[in-house]
Amino acid sequence: MRISDEFLFELRQRCDIEDVVSGYVQLKRRGKNLVGLCPFHNEKTPSFTIYPESGSFYCFGCGAGGEVVSFIRRAENLDFTEAVRFLCDRVGMTMPSDGFDDSLAQKRKRIYEMNREAARFFHECLLGEKGSAALQYYLNRGYTKKTITRFGLGYAPNEWRALLTHLREKGYSYEDAYEANLAQKSEKNGKVSFYDNFRNRVIVPIIDARGNVVAFGGRVLDDSKPKYINTSDTPVYKKSLGVFGLNFAKNSKERSLILVEGYMDAIALHQAGFTNSIACLGTALTGEMAHLLSRYADEILLAYDNDEAGHKATERAIGVFSSIGMKIRVIRLSGGKDPDEILKKFGAEKMRSLIEGGENEIEFALLKARDGLDLESSDGKVKYLTLAAEVLSSVKNSIAVHVYSSRLAEELGVEKAAIDAKINQLKRHKAYGSQKKKYDEIQRDSLSKMSKLRLSTKTSVRSVRAQERIIILIFENPDFYPTVKEKLGSGFFSVPVLERIYTVISQRIKEHASLELTSLSSELSNEEISEFVRLTKQSERFSGTKKELLDCIEVVESEKERTQTQSLDVSGLSDEDFLKAMEKLKNKK
Ligand code: GTP
Ligand code: MN
Repeated sequence: MRISDEFLFELRQRCDIEDVVSGYVQLKRRGKNLVGLCPFHNEKTPSFTIYPESGSFYCFGCGAGGEVVSFIRRAENLDFTEAVRFLCDRVGMTMPSDGFDDSLAQKRKRIYEMNREAARFFHECLLGEKGSAALQYYLNRGYTKKTITRFGLGYAPNEWRALLTHLREKGYSYEDAYEANLAQKSEKNGKVSFYDNFRNRVIVPIIDARGNVVAFGGRVLDDSKPKYINTSDTPVYKKSLGVFGLNFAKNSKERSLILVEGYMDAIALHQAGFTNSIACLGTALTGEMAHLLSRYADEILLAYDNDEAGHKATERAIGVFSSIGMKIRVIRLSGGKDPDEILKKFGAEKMRSLIEGGENEIEFALLKARDGLDLESSDGKVKYLTLAAEVLSSVKNSIAVHVYSSRLAEELGVEKAAIDAKINQLKRHKAYGSQKKKYDEIQRDSLSKMSKLRLSTKTSVRSVRAQERIIILIFENPDFYPTVKEKLGSGFFSVPVLERIYTVISQRIKEHASLELTSLSSELSNEEISEFVRLTKQSERFSGTKKELLDCIEVVESEKERTQTQSLDVSGLSDEDFLKAMEKLKNKK
């Protein structure tokens, strides 16, 4: 599926990059460009730059770059087509339908609308006369009115065709409802009849990251079986990839997701302020699901039920997440069977301490600190306080800090304010230290990632520079391409990402297609478009001639011959060794 260049051009004309980005980043003018704090990594001083002239952005801190669609791709965690749709909505353009299977797109659109209508119906039923028992059920479970509204919780009446009748009034047929799994079908004596799939159940709508109602979960109000009926696969929903709560969790500030087993747990967690909570819907966790989640978080906090099934599922999930290199932490729900129960029995602070590693750890550390000290002597007191402040300065939970510092103050007969001052001072030191460390790490990481990307095969720095330059020269002067294309056959570019960029550009030149940044971006990954934008920024000051192009080709060819004898394979090196090797190469030049 390819969206036409004309359409992308039009879209880019209408979506001013400055405008779009300023919804995410506070921008300051610097010359003809704008700068701000990069939304894609943590930084204190702005290295994120917008170039209104070329409609592009580049971050010198983390290397993220691109144009307006790539920006949305990253900022909203969408793929290219989704990002285009997102921007279309914003400026009131309609997505082009040619190139899509239109009938399927239409069908999906209809199901989304029908699902939304159904969700509205269930919600109204909950708040109406028929829903009083269901509403009471939610309230008994401790959900507030606000939570009920926020999640659009509902109730399916105890009737055979309540929803079907409503949907028919809205112009949907029984077959439509059947296709969305909102209805069941039965055939008796050749006579087909339809009835509501959800009856006398409280309803939890499942909304995807884009805000579409994709499915429903329906729970009984008592202990009867089956406890849940969930939407099965439909044209808009794949059960094994169903996630509840992602629509909210994706906007949470955290780069972690709290993964729980049940809808009810996830809702309770959100209500208690853990807005990065999600539930996978009952089925076993797959690698595909883990990939999906990795788009939204760097770390998974697993809070499965505290029973045998939960422990088994935890083990499995650890395997799946670590196989794709995702960080994972297991939250032990000591004292309760699931997050919902923990919250009810002990409250949000207990849950937070479990998530952050537990208050027992703090107590343990404080006990260790007073070991061997005479707390009757002033000297011992001071030593203990210093160590204790050290311990508390690394506790994130400010309420826990407050509790323990009060306790210390009482225990030792000193002013709480003095202890707090000490803790805060240590905290500031730490914050500075870790910020600096983080910054250094990012610098190093982005350097080595970038260069590894570029130097993943045997190659010299000189040759890489020339290869980069060739790409820019051709991009800026497509008319050079026909005379040099023979020389640039397969195997010419030794760096995969450059080869990839070149392939896209040359293919487009051949087809007389647009070389607009957005068109290129439609065929390149986030990393690839970033790399390309970096190259264009680098070369801004030079103007190229065909002679230069030929010289560059010459360099690559002669370097290839030379390095065939003395080669450096950096692909397997550690970052440390890699940086050393880079230094050596530079000095050799
Ligand atoms: P409560 O027990 O009411 O707190 O609900 P819960 O959401 O915590 O459910 P539970 O821990 O029993 O199950 C976890 C998840 O598994 C649920 O949210 C459902 O997605 C799924 N599930 C549970 N029971 C059934 C069932 O009978 N049928 C189906 N299809 N799914 C179920
Ligand atoms: Mn549960």
